[in-house]
Amino acid sequence: MNSPQTAHDLEGKIIIVTGGGSGIGRASSLKMAASGSKIVVVDYKESMGLETVELIKRAGGEGIFVQANVSNSKEVQHYVQTTIDTFGKIDVLFNNAGILQDFKKFQDISEEEFTRVIDVNLKGIFLGMKYVLQVMDQQGYGNIINTASTTAVRAEHSLAAYTASKHGVAGLTKAAALEYVRKGIRVNAICPGGVATPLTDSVPSQLQASGYVPEEFPNMRIGRYAQPEELADIVTFLASDKSSYMTGSILVVDGGMTL
Ligand SMILES: NC(=O)c1ccc[n+]([C@@H]2O[C@H](COP(=O)([O-])OP(=O)(O)OC[C@H]3O[C@@H](n4cnc5c(N)ncnc54)[C@H](O)[C@@H]3O)[C@@H](O)[C@H]2O)c1
Repeated sequence: MNSPQTAHDLEGKIIIVTGGGSGIGRASSLKMAASGSKIVVVDYKESMGLETVELIKRAGGEGIFVQANVSNSKEVQHYVQTTIDTFGKIDVLFNNAGILQDFKKFQDISEEEFTRVIDVNLKGIFLGMKYVLQVMDQQGYGNIINTASTTAVRAEHSLAAYTASKHGVAGLTKAAALEYVRKGIRVNAICPGGVATPLTDSVPSQLQASGYVPEEFPNMRIGRYAQPEELADIVTFLASDKSSYMTGSILVVDGGMTL
């Protein structure tokens, strides 16, 4: 629960959350709504997105759902336009939707699998930034938070396509932070390590199937997965004016995984 001091950190802000139907996106949507913002939940899974909006409303918050595949340019433009038509501005984009690739030896990754992962994890992030930056540039303010991963700062075994996509997210984050640093627009990325969400449910069985068994798994040095709410706290901070001097940061939130 939010303490009384933090309850209104995001009062009046309009925040888009992609991948808001599950995991880190859902937990962040709930926390940021409880902090006073209105949330535009974007997901390609309609039932999950609607459920997040229902949870927001049940807790006394405000939000709408827009169904979109983040790697489809038209659908990205649609969620941006719907946000403007409904709320008139965009304060924050939490550009978070992403997928995991199948654990595979580098040489066995199919071209289709590589394209599938890059399309969502990198092109999806690019499209969200591109169309939201057009709005933010006109507004003269804005704040973008991209979800990268510890694989943005180091490689993960048997996850070459995912690693490449997340390194790319770090690159897009820094490039936009640099270009818009004098335009009132901040751009940062979070790098979760292991978070207990549906995305990681299948990791143990996938590792077994891939034949790669790390010496230490899960290699969370802190001894456990993060709960999505622990990432939501960081996202809420980045979305607030309390992080006003942060831009271009690639923020590792990994329980010591990359030590
Ligand atoms: N869980 C982890 O351990 C972990 C670690 C590092 C980074 N991440 C990153 O965090 C982000 C969120 O992951 P999560 O763990 O909450 O996973 P999740 O599977 O619980 O949630 C991801 C959400 O994104 C949506 N989504 C996927 N592809 C989409 C698309 N093309 N268009 C629209 N929506 C789409 C899904 O429907 C789902 O609701 C991802 O970018 C992931 O790569 C997760």
